[in-house]
Amino acid sequence: MAIRNLWRSYERGSETVHALAEFDLTVQPGEMVGIVGRSGSGKTTLLNQIGCLDRPTTGQVIIAGTDVTALPERELVAFRRDHIGFIFQLFYLLPTLSVAENVGMPMLFARAHDRERVRAICERVGLADQMTALPGSLDGGDMQRVAIARALVNDPALLLADEPTGRLERQARDEVLDIFDDLRADGLAIVMATHDLEQAARCGRVIELRDGRRLEHAYEDSWPKAHCAT
Ligand SMILES: Nc1ncnc2c1ncn2[C@@H]1O[C@H](COP(=O)(O)OP(=O)(O)OP(=O)(O)O)[C@@H](O)[C@H]1O
Ligand SMILES: [Mg+2]
Repeated sequence: MAIRNLWRSYERGSETVHALAEFDLTVQPGEMVGIVGRSGSGKTTLLNQIGCLDRPTTGQVIIAGTDVTALPERELVAFRRDHIGFIFQLFYLLPTLSVAENVGMPMLFARAHDRERVRAICERVGLADQMTALPGSLDGGDMQRVAIARALVNDPALLLADEPTGRLERQARDEVLDIFDDLRADGLAIVMATHDLEQAARCGRVIELRDGRRLEHAYEDSWPKAHCAT
């Protein structure tokens, strides 16, 4: 995945706010990149551009060899479904559907439902015994596992996570990151926005945003150790 000179600007009254400016980033398969920065620095804006949930003002986002910024809306929807998984702080599960039905939902849109695939992905994230449960009976950590399984069911190349553990207790947080580690080791590219420096420390590389711009850190690759030396 590669981002080239990405800008996302908003008009606010008579002024233009650059939520993202001059942003470049390349993420390789099997890499987990953390995005940090204070509130309003542009983390969500960035993930939304990469995830095709919003269109940049200018610049390119290239995923699996395709410049997604050039795709018409119809193709963009299919591209997002087939290539990108997205996880949010709030899990956005459908409460009246079982775990397995929630996980299989993206396949219905792709018209390719596959029970074995749903089972395999549920097992992978540790939900094998809860496939018939309703989301309301699960704790937060398990709800996020369902959201992760749903994000992965169409076998995307890229997983985007916006504060995925913001609502979780410590143990559940660590378990979500264990799942990310496992997926990353299997070749998935992961981009995760987080406020939590300890979590960022588990990313191979950390990018800091300030006012929509990428800060140049001499210690980008050793960022976690520099910040979490305690
Ligand atoms: N739809 C919009 N219209 C106008 N301004 C927006 C819009 N969305 C975001 N912004 C502005 O863009 C900037 C970046 O916001 P963004 O939500 O990306 O920050 P963030 O780093 O995700 O913050 P947080 O840590 O609170 O989630 C902020 O100044 C915000 O007010
Ligand atoms: Mg945000």
